[in-house]
Amino acid sequence: MTPIEANLLVNELTEKINHYNFQYYQKSISEVSDKEFDTLLKQLEAVEQQFPEFKKPESPTQRVGGTITKTFETVVHKYPMLSLGNTYSQEDLTEFDKRVQKGLEGQTYEYVCELKYDGVALSVSYEKGVLTLATTRGDGTKGDNITNNAKTIKSLPLKLYNSTLQDFEVRGEVFLPRNEFNRINTEREDIGEALLANPRNAASGTVKMQDSGVVAKRNLDCYIYSLLGKNIPTISHSESLAVLKEMGFNVPAHYKVCSSIEEVFSFIEEWKEKRFELPLDTDGIVIKINNFSQQEQLGFTAKSPRWAISYKYESESAATLLESISYQVGRTGAITPVANLAPVQLAGTTVKRASLHNANEIERLDIRVNDTVFVEKGGEIIPKVTGVELKLRPTNSTPTQYITECPECNTPLTRKEGEASHYCPNETGCPPQLKGKIEHFIQRKAMNIDGFGKETIEALFEKGLLNSIEDIYSLTYEQLIALDRFAEKSSKNLIEGIQKSALEIAFPQVLFALGIRYVGATVAEKLANHFESIEKLKEATFEELIEVAEIGERIASSVIDYFSNPRNQKTIEVLSKFVNFKIEENTSIAKSSKLVGLTFVVSGVFQQFSRDEITATIKANGGKVVSSVSGKLNYLVAGDKMGPSKLEKAEKLGIKIISEEDFQNLIQ
Ligand code: IVH
Repeated sequence: MTPIEANLLVNELTEKINHYNFQYYQKSISEVSDKEFDTLLKQLEAVEQQFPEFKKPESPTQRVGGTITKTFETVVHKYPMLSLGNTYSQEDLTEFDKRVQKGLEGQTYEYVCELKYDGVALSVSYEKGVLTLATTRGDGTKGDNITNNAKTIKSLPLKLYNSTLQDFEVRGEVFLPRNEFNRINTEREDIGEALLANPRNAASGTVKMQDSGVVAKRNLDCYIYSLLGKNIPTISHSESLAVLKEMGFNVPAHYKVCSSIEEVFSFIEEWKEKRFELPLDTDGIVIKINNFSQQEQLGFTAKSPRWAISYKYESESAATLLESISYQVGRTGAITPVANLAPVQLAGTTVKRASLHNANEIERLDIRVNDTVFVEKGGEIIPKVTGVELKLRPTNSTPTQYITECPECNTPLTRKEGEASHYCPNETGCPPQLKGKIEHFIQRKAMNIDGFGKETIEALFEKGLLNSIEDIYSLTYEQLIALDRFAEKSSKNLIEGIQKSALEIAFPQVLFALGIRYVGATVAEKLANHFESIEKLKEATFEELIEVAEIGERIASSVIDYFSNPRNQKTIEVLSKFVNFKIEENTSIAKSSKLVGLTFVVSGVFQQFSRDEITATIKANGGKVVSSVSGKLNYLVAGDKMGPSKLEKAEKLGIKIISEEDFQNLIQ
């Protein structure tokens, strides 16, 4: 490809991708399948990699992230980011309305009602129609530059097409949609990581992550609610919202222009329950004077505008006594503090326990035993403690000292830098960790052993018959039937369940079942397909691990740690007699001896096949696949997005670089 062709292709692909994006996010129309869309994006990435001079800051490939921000630069806001006064009752709102009436001296006025999104405020600047800066609110005067992370938000335009307005700022709220929040937490549960407390905390943590690649995977979204700048063509807030929508911003449809405070009350009533149907958490309504010159007339107090106010819905909250704090130990040793409460009625159920998340949260709210605390039921199933009634605090109260030793095995706890949770490092002797590993191993998504459950694990553990996952395979019918709750049939079923699962469950799922930290189901599948057997995975070096698509340093280190631990080596040795520790031969790939004596490196992303399929085909045809380029190599099968150093080295050594199509021709 010549540079001229590359430039044209970059423009053509960018235009197409932006068009599909616009249709999808603004019009909810999918003109192409996800796969076709990804293919276009990958093509663009490949050309940009080959011709970096044509990569624009607004390129849609920025969405996938990949930049690392070590420290976030502080930026002074051009327009301060103020907060809003809060109200909780109709009376307060009537008071607000009276103040407005007085301030506007008899003029007629309108309000715009919007929902109050529970996320993180964001300010985004555009210059010549291109997104140049995104910042957090910070202290209202200056915030953090989080541009790279904000660019991963797919509904936020990176460049505006067909807009006369080119230099301006928008304000909005970044949030983690509830379904994304749940997806992330399920994944975290699988890999034994502490759960994210709630979507708002998760969003605020995510916008400040150093690796924008990780941010991209979290699928943040953003609603825009304000347009600022010198030459704004609109005279009212509702007009601005319409213009923003027209420009391609994600402006939610559910706002309303109201001509009286009574209409505002109806809006509040209308959304009281309906707001739970929205994809994100909302905690109230924001009421703003519509006309900009009237906004100006009303002005600001030191902290907030006089022309706007927020109304917070009363959340289902109750006050109760915090009787004690207990600490639960998870499968990976992560400690979760739990509040034990005097039973209280909340949203139709009796609440006795609530999560306290971690030491930071206890410290932030200064929660102490014998405090009267407020508990709320948010979107989450487990209620949370949201605050303390300080007036009712006993005079002899002292701050909570977080535990320093494991409540189950007394081992001193550890806390890694930058992590919120404490851990018990006694992996091999701490009972809940041992039982938790077995629970993880037998679950549906892992070994799926019929007839096994938490109570059975508990009973066998108590009897000293089950301490580790490998012990499962030495359980006998006699041992089971001797247990209180086991009859002939259930004992037989469990033994059969163990044997059936060992035979049927394929290697990727077995690998997931081992419970290696950070190796969830998807990562296990990637590793299993790449290395094909536990033997090869065990021997893989750090470099070989990170060469696998989507395997980062954190996962690679964890895998190395796992296999270098003698305790785990013993587990693998015992398990290898029972379970599938290698990928079954793929019968769909034709075999031949065409590639005998030839060595290949397969690198990059391919259009028609996965990298694993190409690797499997080479092997099935007698070839050898290695991971690094050397003089002994015969072919480099090069896909999109492959590392430039590999390509360079292969070129230097005169190695044949072939495409996916060339490879197909080679074996045909
Ligand atoms: S307008 C002058 N509209 O609430 C303040 N804010 O307490 C203009 N928020 O920092 C803010 N939804 O993060 C506005 N529809 C909405 C909002 C909203 C949520 C947040 C925003 C702001 C905070 C103010």
